[in-house]
Amino acid sequence: MQFENPLNEHSLAYPILICIHLAGIAAGVGTAALLNFRLLGVGVTHKSSPQLWRDLMPWTVTGLTIAIFSGLMLFSIDPETYYASGIFRLKLLILLVAIVFYFTIVRRQAVSGRGSVAVACFSLTLWTLVPFGGILLGSAGSLSISVLLSLHIVALISLSGMVLVTDVCLLGGMPGYSSEEVIKGLRIPKRVGFIVAAVCGLLMFAARAGQYSRNPWFWIKIGLLVLIAGNSFLLRRRAKLAAGMSLFLWAGVVWAARGPSTVKDIMHSMVEPSGDFLFQSVQTIADEHGVREKAPRTDEEWDAVRQRLTILNQVPGLFSAPGLRAARPRDRSKNPAVENQPEQVQNLLDAERPDFIRRAFRLKDAASVGIQAANAKDKDALRTALDSIDKACESCHLHYWYPNDKRAREAAKENGVIE
Ligand code: HEC
Repeated sequence: MQFENPLNEHSLAYPILICIHLAGIAAGVGTAALLNFRLLGVGVTHKSSPQLWRDLMPWTVTGLTIAIFSGLMLFSIDPETYYASGIFRLKLLILLVAIVFYFTIVRRQAVSGRGSVAVACFSLTLWTLVPFGGILLGSAGSLSISVLLSLHIVALISLSGMVLVTDVCLLGGMPGYSSEEVIKGLRIPKRVGFIVAAVCGLLMFAARAGQYSRNPWFWIKIGLLVLIAGNSFLLRRRAKLAAGMSLFLWAGVVWAARGPSTVKDIMHSMVEPSGDFLFQSVQTIADEHGVREKAPRTDEEWDAVRQRLTILNQVPGLFSAPGLRAARPRDRSKNPAVENQPEQVQNLLDAERPDFIRRAFRLKDAASVGIQAANAKDKDALRTALDSIDKACESCHLHYWYPNDKRAREAAKENGVIE
């Protein structure tokens, strides 16, 4: 039975899941950070640490559960690649150690009311190392940018824990907590978090100003941050409204930063999984048992092929969205000697949009022929259609993604991939 993954079918599923993943991390790790701050004598100091442990616990557990489940779903897109990656396994290991340490040693100290600075610092360090692994995994680019990005994200996660607790408190979700004291206690740590996040953000912007400044979503994010600053003035008079607005605006910031899907997202979550599935569905296998043909046989197998072809058939429509982004600035190329970086792909995309769409339609046309073959259950026609699909992938990649790959270009010429 083929496992149907909705992430491979809907272009919005992948970015939405990333946002849910981040929201889970913000709630889970953000509140864990807040408790560690308390052990350090910072933040919500007007409550005892056993009390704070009890009250934050549901948020930490719910947040972490959401983060882990959404993380498993993201993993399901491409398990082999993730699993093969040493950094990914290291990230999981650190995550496991961070969770176990938090719920054993940190818990014991918090509940007994005698926290040590060393334990709190160690726990914070473990939490900090988890996103660091993910960032190194995502961007094989420059180390200084990775470090800046990690600091930016760590500051944002602890900030979001503080914002969450303040807003929930203002909305009346934490009985027994006086919102004035929470706001007062968190004022300085919040400012520190904000300044660290802002300075790292500015430095990253300075390093790649051109790329950010042409990205409409970047400006939406900045606009939302300005609104958040403005919203805090509302706090004095209409506290509940301001708290609700604050949660809403922060969710918008996360969406603007990670939500809108890019060409790379669509390739990674929809095109590649369907392509892999299709190319494996019709094959000539030569091994010790001789030469055999592999092709769909049952109705279900033909159905699965048709579904995958339908996904490829729909993909070009997604590329016609105005302001389409190639990839996020942090999605550095793993192989920059032959591959273009996101900003180079973006330049080509902006300059040659009609050509890009034309190549995408080549994929669509080939997929349509494939759908007819699947309807007729004609494996030879399917094989021909898959060959055209393969050529459509290759011709677009050669132009936009790895134009400097001489070997791929030679091979493409031999195979008749028309430029
Ligand atoms: C219309 C152009 C176009 C077509 C057609 C196309 N791709 Fe892509 N693909 C791209 C571009 C552009 C990138 C590079 C995006 C970036 O990293 O900036 C890319 C990247 C990729 C990646 C790398 C994704 C990652 O996570 O780094 C894979 C895998 C991929 N494509 C698979 C396919 C397959 C399989 C097909 C055919 C079924 C296909 N593509 C068809 C334009 C195309």
